[in-house]
Amino acid sequence: MGRAKKVVLAYSGGVDTSVCIPYLKQEWGVEEVIALAADLGQGEELKPIQEKALKSGAVESLVVDAKESFVKDYGFPAIQANALYENRYPLSTSLARPLIAKLLVEAAEKYGADAVAHGCTGKGNDQVRFDVSIAALNPNLKVLAPAREWGMSREETIAYGEKFGIPAPVKKSSPYSIDRNLFGRSIEAGPLEDPETEPLEEIYAMTQAIADTPDEPEYVEIGFERGMPASLNGQVLPAVALVEQLNQVVGKHGFGRIDMVENRLVGIKSREIYETPALLALILAHRDLESLTLTADVSHYKRGVEETYGQLVYNGLWYSPLKAALDAFIQQTQERVSGTVRVKLFKGSATIVGRRSDYSLYSPDLATYGAEDQFDHKAAEGFIYVWGLPTRVWSQKTRG
Ligand code: ARG
Repeated sequence: MGRAKKVVLAYSGGVDTSVCIPYLKQEWGVEEVIALAADLGQGEELKPIQEKALKSGAVESLVVDAKESFVKDYGFPAIQANALYENRYPLSTSLARPLIAKLLVEAAEKYGADAVAHGCTGKGNDQVRFDVSIAALNPNLKVLAPAREWGMSREETIAYGEKFGIPAPVKKSSPYSIDRNLFGRSIEAGPLEDPETEPLEEIYAMTQAIADTPDEPEYVEIGFERGMPASLNGQVLPAVALVEQLNQVVGKHGFGRIDMVENRLVGIKSREIYETPALLALILAHRDLESLTLTADVSHYKRGVEETYGQLVYNGLWYSPLKAALDAFIQQTQERVSGTVRVKLFKGSATIVGRRSDYSLYSPDLATYGAEDQFDHKAAEGFIYVWGLPTRVWSQKTRG
């Protein structure tokens, strides 16, 4: 008896996931492997990947275009939450995992599989996100992670694959480990493992080097509806097109690079480079629109929720009761976060230079220093007396 009869495998076309196919069958007695590749806008041709899975021994090879759901159901809610892990990383890779897990579970249920599988090793965050998301969506499914157990080196993995007709990578494989989707690229390993070493320009693909960016600034107006990105420069766009176009223009000006040492859930510190042009610009713009449309108390309280939300997403708890509860709070806050934010892109920076909303709580009559001023200055005196009273009493008592 093998570990499972029929397995749906998350398939990327790379060596590891390809080797998973014969490995599951030969070593773990799996009878049928169904490969599933999700198109999240990684810009790769999926047709050859689909065929490669069949050549590697899969009985079925599925390709699911999940770009729209990725942007609308995972990316945009994270923008509404202004979600940044450790205050910097906008979770471009993390957000993809719960969606892939959902696709795996749906396929397993449709094809009557008793397990799902992925090619993650034991050192990263992604294994946690897959395993926990799958458990949340269908606790009866087994999760198999061959690469976590097989203990083969890179060379051994390639040699194992060759025995089963999986060709060794043709190009001298890059020293980097790269994950890519519509929201960004995550790059680690190789020379980046030394946190002191500046990344080479060659690792970037979505953002220009400052030296190559235009010498004139460019303005872009981002429109939001209830906290969801809805238009660019006045033109209402479908979600995927909006993100694609914004990636282009923001990337062209070199904004959206992050170089950080982050704390993985499994306890390891790792050096990671990100480029997430549109996503980062959208979070900045959205947060700015909130400053105009949310009351001070909601805005301040939400910052704590955002921090927790970012941790939950990073730590694989997308489908969890706490996440659902935070979602309800965030949705409630977004009701009037509609309007436009003007962003100036120039030489690696994205600066918010203007914002407008029909729901603006900014009151010129109260804010002005001019003659139109409606603020009751005298009221401030009594307010300050009461506000400062505890401090006054404390000072009197302690000074004696
Ligand atoms: N550290 C990021 C995360 O946990 C990205 C992980 C994938 N990175 C990679 N280069 N393969 O979400």
